[in-house]
Amino acid sequence: MNTALAVPGIPDGQIVELKVQVPPGQVVRYDLAALASAFEITDPGRLAVETDGSRTALVTIYPSNPLMVMPPPSPEDMVMDEYGRIINGRYHNGRPSRRRLFDPISGSAQRAMVFGTTGAGKSRVVQYTLACEKRNGICTWHGDLKGGQSAPEAEGHVDWFATSQEEVILMLRAAVAVAEIRQRRYRALGRNAFLINDPDPLISVRIDEANRLLEKGAPYRDEGTYLVKELGRTGRSVGIGIELDAQASHLEELGGSDTLRAMLKEGDITLLRWSSSMMRQLVTDGLLPAGEQLAPIPKTLRPKVLRSQFATGPAPADVDLCDTQGMAYMLSGPSPTSLMRHFRIGSIRPMPGLDPEILALYGPGDPRRLEENSLEAAAEAYEARGTAAMDALCEAVQEEQKKQAAKAQAKGGGRGAVLLADRVRAVLAESEDALSPDEVLVLLGADGGPDVKSVGSVRNALGVLVDQGDVVRAGRGLYEIAR
Ligand SMILES: Nc1ncnc2c1ncn2[C@@H]1O[C@H](COP(=O)(O)OP(=O)(O)OP(=O)(O)O)[C@@H](O)[C@H]1O
Ligand SMILES: [Mg+2]
Repeated sequence: MNTALAVPGIPDGQIVELKVQVPPGQVVRYDLAALASAFEITDPGRLAVETDGSRTALVTIYPSNPLMVMPPPSPEDMVMDEYGRIINGRYHNGRPSRRRLFDPISGSAQRAMVFGTTGAGKSRVVQYTLACEKRNGICTWHGDLKGGQSAPEAEGHVDWFATSQEEVILMLRAAVAVAEIRQRRYRALGRNAFLINDPDPLISVRIDEANRLLEKGAPYRDEGTYLVKELGRTGRSVGIGIELDAQASHLEELGGSDTLRAMLKEGDITLLRWSSSMMRQLVTDGLLPAGEQLAPIPKTLRPKVLRSQFATGPAPADVDLCDTQGMAYMLSGPSPTSLMRHFRIGSIRPMPGLDPEILALYGPGDPRRLEENSLEAAAEAYEARGTAAMDALCEAVQEEQKKQAAKAQAKGGGRGAVLLADRVRAVLAESEDALSPDEVLVLLGADGGPDVKSVGSVRNALGVLVDQGDVVRAGRGLYEIAR
């Protein structure tokens, strides 16, 4: 885009909208910082660019950042429309942004992912969705791998509130079992989709901090990945949705790329503040149409003021402030490249206890429960949820896992090999440059792990990592992390 298109003297307090087009044969590309500089705008939040992925773009310049202050949601926003959508916030142009909880047209439960770096607002998005689910009669199974600390208000307002890795595994197993029994029941009825007014409730299984379950080295990674995949596959047509909320710098950190790629391709994706490498990956993975661009969401939209070391007078307050929480791209919505912000959910300041404003969002009454017909399939774990009996079940899962890990180790040093590969991956991930096996060996000497004797074992580990797609060859005898 031609950045020499400066608007002479943008009138005070007015919104300027420019429609621009590049010649046929070209695709609109832009550099937000350069564009802001051309318009002499110091706050990039005042500038919004939307492209159609082809030749045309709409550039909007606001007198002030339109997403700076968000209202809380209204009860009407929380009710699903005829397309199964709720309103979750606003786009920069004031239009409502929507998120689908169910697709009544195809009778499909949703697969969803919410990505964001720490503090980007993931858990508030989760709280709002949980509250909307309760109000819409959806039966919610919520797993919070921060021990229940991410959304404490949800306890009692969801059908299942799981707070440990073991309990989440039990919850996922139960969900897969319910999906199977529903499949059999629905087949007998001759049905191939889910009806929202079915006597069976729509079930929504959600894991906040899913990276803790699915990252490399996590104790239940393999089973967790399998169960998530299974639910993604069978749950859709029997009214069981799955959502993962995570921070991760790489898709590989979430149960391996295949799991996620499949979910992402058809799922509902919310991208909060996120690293630019992750955004690039979404494009290379084909999740965003080529040519579409997402301007990274910065931590703060306050203009940076340069201050000379010789300056006199009071210095501006030096605080590391974040004021873009809740800002996101709804990648599966109609405007994937248009910045939106989620409603303000609860108090911005930390509360000494449960937040009354968030509790009010859930409304009165009990949450929707699992249907009688599936109680047997959900088994004892469902019955034990929220009671002391859960501890014993979780201990059993832990024991089972320990036994399996011991077996794997006895089977021929499997664990040792895995550990070395993990260390090699970590060394490569840290390095800016591609490395040779010898250089990796030297760096392994300083990573605090046990001594690695030969470069041969480093080569083996690199081979394993290349096969897994975690590492790529970067020229003769050099390796780098797959980004
Ligand atoms: N839509 C919003 N508008 C204004 N402030 C928000 C919004 N969403 C979140 N915040 C603020 O950001 C803070 C962090 O949000 P939240 O806990 O949801 O982030 P998170 O991504 O889950 O972080 P973590 O990785 O630490 O779990 C909240 O305490 C809140 O003050
Ligand atoms: Mg959180």
